[in-house]
Order: sequence, then structure tokens, then C-alpha cells
Amino acid sequence: MSVDLTTRYLGMQLEHPVVPSASPLTGDIDHIHTLVEAGAPAVVLASLFEEQIEHDAMAVHDSLEMGADIFGEAAEGYFPQLDDYNTGPEDYLALIRRAKDEVAVPVIGSLNGVTTGGWIRYAEILADQGIEALELNIYRLTTDFQQTSADVERAYLNLVEKIRESVSLPIAVKVGPYFSSFPQMARQLSDAGADALVLFNRFYQPDIDLETLEVIPNLKLSDPVELRLVVRWLAILSGQVECDLAATSGVHEPEDALKALLAGATVTMMASALLRHGPSRLTTVRDGIERWLGSHGYESVAQARGSLSYATAPNPEAFDRVGYMKTLTSYVPTW
Ligand SMILES: Cc1cc2nc3c(=O)[nH]c(=O)nc-3n(C[C@H](O)[C@H](O)[C@H](O)COP(=O)(O)O)c2cc1C
Repeated sequence: MSVDLTTRYLGMQLEHPVVPSASPLTGDIDHIHTLVEAGAPAVVLASLFEEQIEHDAMAVHDSLEMGADIFGEAAEGYFPQLDDYNTGPEDYLALIRRAKDEVAVPVIGSLNGVTTGGWIRYAEILADQGIEALELNIYRLTTDFQQTSADVERAYLNLVEKIRESVSLPIAVKVGPYFSSFPQMARQLSDAGADALVLFNRFYQPDIDLETLEVIPNLKLSDPVELRLVVRWLAILSGQVECDLAATSGVHEPEDALKALLAGATVTMMASALLRHGPSRLTTVRDGIERWLGSHGYESVAQARGSLSYATAPNPEAFDRVGYMKTLTSYVPTW
């Protein structure tokens, strides 16, 4: 029996639900080609980072300033205004253009801003390039003791509202799990204009080198166990928010993707496993989903989606507080 793997994400009809998420692989046109050849039904480009743009822009600014000094008569109009000088995003825009021209699948841009003005400005610039959708990679870490959780949540919502007003294409919002009341936050993000939530951003944690006594950035690829947090929240949100739900963090095997789909994911995304195992892992996961669904009597991904959500699972308490108590008390020490 053939299984219909198609899924509708951000208004796009995708051939199947295994999408490469933002990573160095999707920041490079050759890798994008390889991923599409391996069957990627869409790609999320690596993020455009506002800090990087501003850094590049400052370098341009410095050299222009230097030029202005050398050529003393340099008038305002002689050198372009810094505000109009989009040197920073040029490489990114070139990547979008090549991806749009050269691959036949939808291209989702990704933006990581810092200032509200920067977020809006670059969202508009990216939206003008013909990408099918935009993912907002919101990576925000609060270190300010004065900021309340309500302040932080308002900032997220303001941002999504402002970008929603500025661009008309579908928006996915990639967030971390650290909210006191994620169901309420998810609903508000959806109401603010998010067409999808991408769960969850991984906040990379620095380590301490005990020899050099330095704090070292230390990127570790994910482990499938990280998917459990995602699965729990997918299950709780499934059918309860208007927007699509994408799963990211810990999808390495077909079984991982299947769990995310059964919990309610519209698409599953992969980065670490593709970096570790290469593009064929995407095909493996796609084929594994098809095989499992077929052998378990499902006709389509749509039929399976959300069948083990909080609202529909036969034992939803495993997702919540009762599950916590049962799990802890059922653990048997081995010595
Ligand atoms: C090396 C590397 C670079 C990444 N770059 C980005 C990025 O530019 N933008 C973004 O939103 N996520 C980025 N991510 C996060 C991934 O898209 C993904 O959400 C995360 O790694 C969890 O998924 P995984 O378990 O499949 O790796 C990056 C991840 C890795 C490992």
C-alpha cells in the first residue's frame, strides 16, 4: 500500500515531512543541491545574523570614513549613506537568489535579529527576494535582573506583531522552551501572526576549561533524547493552536520523526544528524517513515499526525504531572 507522505507547512504542499533545518549545510549552495538531490522537500537556509551585517557595515563605514578624511572635499552625496549600504546581507541575498534559481523546492529564509529595527528591516529585505517563507530564529537570553518574564514575553510578541505587519509571506517562529506557561505563549505567538512554531531552538551552552580557566564555546550536536521535550510540547499544543508545528532538536532516526508526527508535528527538521551522517540520512528517515506508516496501517502522514497528542492519546497523563510522579517512583535502582 502506498502511503501519502505529503504535508502542508506554512501554506506550502511538501512532498514529505523531513526538512533540513538551518545549519552550515543550508548556508552553502553546493550542500543545498546535495540535500535536494537526497530528497529534501524544502530547505530552511542558515540564518542571516544582524550582528554579522552590522559588523560588516561598520567595516565599510570605517573605510568610507577613512576615504572621507583622505578626500577632504568628500561631500554627503559622494559616498553612499551607511543606511543604504547593504554590504552585509549581500552574500546572503546571493545565496537566496542561487537557491531560488537552481533548486525546485521551497526556500525558507531565516533571520536572527538583535534590534527591533534590524529585525524588521532585514525581514523586509529577505521577503523581497522571493523566498516562500521566513523563519524568525529568536535566540534571546535574559541576563537583566530587572526584566520580568512578562517583559520578555511582550518583547517576543511585539516582534512577531511588527514583522507580521511588515511582510506578507508566511512566518515561522523558532523559540526555546523556557517559558513559564508555554501553552499560553504559543497561542499568543500564533495570534500575533506566527503561521508556524518551530520547537525548539537549542541554546548553545558554553563550557569551562579547567586548565585554561576560560569559558569556551562548545557546540555539541544533538542527541535523540532531546526530542522528548519537543514531543511533549507538540502533544500538548497539537490541535490547540491555529499554527503549524515544526519539530527540531533530536530528529536522527525515522523513529524520532515518527514520534514527532504522532505527537502532532506538521514537519520534522534535521540538522545534527545530517551534519554527522551526511545527506543520505534524510532519505533514510523519509523512507523509514513511509515503511512504518505502511506497515502500521496508515494511509497518510495526515492520518497519523497528532494521533498521540495530549488530547487524543489513551494515556495523556504520561505527558504531565501524574506521569512525573509515576516515572520517578517506578525507577528501580540496579544495586
Ligand atoms: C552547526 C549548527 C549551526 C546552526 N545554525 C543555525 C542557524 O543559523 N539558524 C538557526 O535557526 N538554527 C541553527 N542551528 C540549529 C538547527 O537548525 C537545529 O534547530 C538544532 O540543531 C536542533 O536540531 P538537530 O537536533 O537536528 O540538530 C544550527 C545548528 C548547528 C548544529
